[in-house]
Amino acid sequence: MTKKLFVKTYGCQMNVYDSQRMQDVLAPLGYQPVDDAAGADMVILNTCHIREKAAEKVFSDLGRIRKHKKAKEANGTDKMIVAVAGCVAQAEGAELMRREPMVDMVFGPQTYHRLPEMVARANRAVGRDRIIDTDFPAEEKFDHLPQQVSRQGYSAFLAIQEGCDKFCTFCVVPYTRGAEYSRPGMDIINEARQLVEKGTREITLLGQNVNAYHGDGPNGGEWTLGRLLRELSEIDGLDRIRYTTSHPRDVDDDLIAAHRDLPKLMPFLHLPIQAGSDRVLQAMNRKHDGASYREIVTKLKDACPDLALSSDFIVGFPGESDKDFEDTMQMVRDITFIQAFSFKYSPRPGTPASAMELQVPEPVKTERIMRIQALLAEQQLEFNRNCLGREMDVLLERHGKLEGQLVGKSPYMQPVHVSGLPESALGQIVRLKITEALPNSLGGELVDAPVQNRDSERKIA
Ligand code: 5AD
Ligand code: SF4
Repeated sequence: MTKKLFVKTYGCQMNVYDSQRMQDVLAPLGYQPVDDAAGADMVILNTCHIREKAAEKVFSDLGRIRKHKKAKEANGTDKMIVAVAGCVAQAEGAELMRREPMVDMVFGPQTYHRLPEMVARANRAVGRDRIIDTDFPAEEKFDHLPQQVSRQGYSAFLAIQEGCDKFCTFCVVPYTRGAEYSRPGMDIINEARQLVEKGTREITLLGQNVNAYHGDGPNGGEWTLGRLLRELSEIDGLDRIRYTTSHPRDVDDDLIAAHRDLPKLMPFLHLPIQAGSDRVLQAMNRKHDGASYREIVTKLKDACPDLALSSDFIVGFPGESDKDFEDTMQMVRDITFIQAFSFKYSPRPGTPASAMELQVPEPVKTERIMRIQALLAEQQLEFNRNCLGREMDVLLERHGKLEGQLVGKSPYMQPVHVSGLPESALGQIVRLKITEALPNSLGGELVDAPVQNRDSERKIA
């Protein structure tokens, strides 16, 4: 009997990957994904704890789910299992259970391979059997997930590394995701091959600290990220590779060489710097300073002259002075980022920075975030404008809003719109001449017939 499963994902790309794998785990039990919580047999909120706002959103959504659960269970026979997963579950599981009596199940990012047992227990239970599993189990989650991954889009995520040992003082990740772990190289190659067989052409390797990757190689020894990229790039039919999120400290020569040597490795790198002031970087425990970041960028651009960067920034970290903030602004001007995420510092429970003195007042954070976002938006628009007249390879992924319009991604992750191509162009990489540049997207026209598709008939299975 099929059952309806509604999964809502908050936060990072790792959560998007995890949600997909939860669906894979539950598929053999008859759970099929649906788009609406109303009437679902199971609802999973896969949550994010990185900043306060993300966590609050979960509680407001739970209010709405409560009504759906009541409606579904009104007849006394039907059941809706409500589960909270992810990093809020990990960090605040017990509190969540207390605060939200209708939540049936709470499980952290390291335990979702145990979902079938948890669901069986919840379904068997007469009355209520509330389940909480926020262990960091000794068995490795990835070893217990289904070996088969389900079909994904033309562009897919693949988790290769999880957890973080860096302990930046503002960040909850080392506490919610746990210690750094790298999957064995061949497991990743096999998963990539399966995705490609099912139609994927672009893979983004995921990890909280992805370039700390050091997985077991097949013949003993370890693979670095650089080595893994080389191996992946041998897979026929895989045309584009990306990886995120990187830590500047872990950019090694091997990785820089991969950017020089591998045409499939896209020339766009998300390399968060967070701040431009050495004093703040030190208080953040970032383990790099402004000069070392600049040096890495220089080496990367020497290896791959087309490379463009994006970054994350935090403004209003405790003790950040006007001068410190100006250092960050100067860093942005010097390096230039074609895309970026910037956040006001948000104190997170249990992290060292939340207990620091000299917390920055909210109005100061607001002023700084507006200034940095204006500068970053300017740089993004300038980069987009500089694309006018250029030819770019675009992987067409979906329909656009307008009739007959398709949307794809450039090597630099810019969405690119194009009109007048047949539906069958979806999943193809086409060469477009850029004719329109907007703040967040580009428009283009076909240069010549669909190009460079070695196997153009291959479609999502
Ligand atoms: N406050 C604000 N931003 C944060 N980030 C992580 N923790 C915090 C916090 N406590 C940002 C960092 C990180 C991104 C994923 O989220 O910039 O790179
Ligand atoms: Fe958090 Fe720092 Fe680890 Fe990134 S490197 S996940 S910001 S602790």
